[in-house]
Amino acid sequence: MTRPLLILDTVSHHFQAASGEVLALRDVSLTVREGEFVALVGPSGCGKTTILRLVAGLIQPEQGRILYDGKLVTEPPDEIGMVFQKATLLPWRTVTDNVRLPLEIAGKPVDSAQIAAMIEAVGLAGFERAMPGELSGGMQQRVSLARALISHPRLLLMDEPFGALDMMRRNEMNLLLLELWARIQSTVLFVTHDIHEAVFLAERVLAMGPRPGRIVGNFPIDLPRPRQAGDRYGREMQDYVERIWQVLERTA
Ligand SMILES: Nc1ncnc2c1ncn2[C@@H]1O[C@H](COP(=O)(O)OP(=O)(O)O)[C@@H](O)[C@H]1O
Ligand SMILES: [Mg+2]
Repeated sequence: MTRPLLILDTVSHHFQAASGEVLALRDVSLTVREGEFVALVGPSGCGKTTILRLVAGLIQPEQGRILYDGKLVTEPPDEIGMVFQKATLLPWRTVTDNVRLPLEIAGKPVDSAQIAAMIEAVGLAGFERAMPGELSGGMQQRVSLARALISHPRLLLMDEPFGALDMMRRNEMNLLLLELWARIQSTVLFVTHDIHEAVFLAERVLAMGPRPGRIVGNFPIDLPRPRQAGDRYGREMQDYVERIWQVLERTA
């Protein structure tokens, strides 16, 4: 067992919405160990994005503590990478210049061979000089992934990154992500509302329920790696999906 990289300790948070007060999270406690791949799964509105924003230091919890590498999170840590559902690329920059952006911002040396290797690793060799507008949604998400990984983040936060892709593209991206994860060994916290995707990807799935947002189940996924494309439809994976579904349904 590796040591904990991320700890949420009885975190509660509410928002003031037009319709009144929303208790987005109540007493959420979770631990993610260094190198682990954890998926957070739950219905829309159960607080998944709020957890990622708290971990990223973009908002502060009203109650409870968030510890990253043993230290209280009070601002965005510089060792994290983020990928969102919508590729947030700069439309006026080429693929290469989007991927190198985090290094520029951090004032780190930019090694063109390293950028080219990362673009190749996400399957976009030949598109280095393309503009984001010329790429499909799936290809744009590949660029987002390359950009998130270029600075070798210790923690990768992913918020429904493949939610807008069709099933085939999403399955491809799932396999690509696992391949990259095995290579770079980042810790991953992956948010999705798709139980199949959570079980396929993660070593552990945390199920969340809504109103108030809270953790309702912890499921270690004890299945062999590397995953194969067809595993998604195998009996064993389906068993996990059904167990998680039952818990989610009870708390929906
Ligand atoms: N900035 C905000 N202002 C008001 N309400 C918010 C805000 N952000 C999130 N919420 C509410 O908090 C709850 C959890 O939201 P969110 O974390 O985005 O859920 P999820 O990502 O699981 O869909 C929802 O009810 C949402 O409407
Ligand atoms: Mg969300």
